[in-house]
Amino acid sequence: MLDIGCGQGTQALRLARAGHYVTGIDSDPVALGVAQGALAEEPEEVRGRLQLLSGDGHQCGRWFGPRSFDVVLCHGVLMYLPDPDPMIASLARLLAPGGLLSLLVRNRDALALRPAAAGDWRAALHAFESDRYYNRLGLAARAYRLADLSVTLSEVSVPIRHWYGVRVFTDNAPDDAAPPVDGRQLAQLLEAEDRAGRTDPYRQVAALLHVIGSK
Ligand SMILES: C[S@@+](CC[C@H](N)C(=O)[O-])C[C@H]1O[C@@H](n2cnc3c(N)ncnc32)[C@H](O)[C@@H]1O
Repeated sequence: MLDIGCGQGTQALRLARAGHYVTGIDSDPVALGVAQGALAEEPEEVRGRLQLLSGDGHQCGRWFGPRSFDVVLCHGVLMYLPDPDPMIASLARLLAPGGLLSLLVRNRDALALRPAAAGDWRAALHAFESDRYYNRLGLAARAYRLADLSVTLSEVSVPIRHWYGVRVFTDNAPDDAAPPVDGRQLAQLLEAEDRAGRTDPYRQVAALLHVIGSK
């Protein structure tokens, strides 16, 4: 598996713990350092399954041959690229036949909801006209419509097989909101999010889209 923009290694580590062989790549040395620190704490067998590399995901076609990976993840990355199409095309080339491409992006069809919930009506109105927004860290970013992603992924022969909404109910919780301390309530919250993320029309207005294409 290849995790492009692996950041602090959250998904790469979970996949390696589950027994998969994973390569994580990130262009930010600070994020990669956090991932390396977390990996160093893992048992030897997990450390042996995950390699972390520094680099720009656009260049991955230089380092790996075509059809090298069964699964390619690119979560929370495309929103920061000026043009996502070259990255998507190069990730598609790395997929083996039958392989899965997993993308997590901001949902343009729900872009007005977060500023509206915060009472920022100017930004809410802007969201109807533009795919650009500022994330909670103040970074300029870009949202995607499922319909547009569907066309792009079909063009690179990795059509969408499944898609889910992520953060339907909890997106407007304050950044410093603690999760419920009651374990049963936390389990119910997660189940409610999981159900909504799989169910129309809720998933259509989720903050994020998790899209799975297959070659
Ligand atoms: C929001 S974080 C997501 C981290 C992780 N994928 C996750 O879901 O938790 C985005 C990461 O993408 C990385 N990134 C952005 N552009 C990249 C590129 N062109 N090549 C490799 N990594 C990139 C950033 O350095 C950052 O660590």
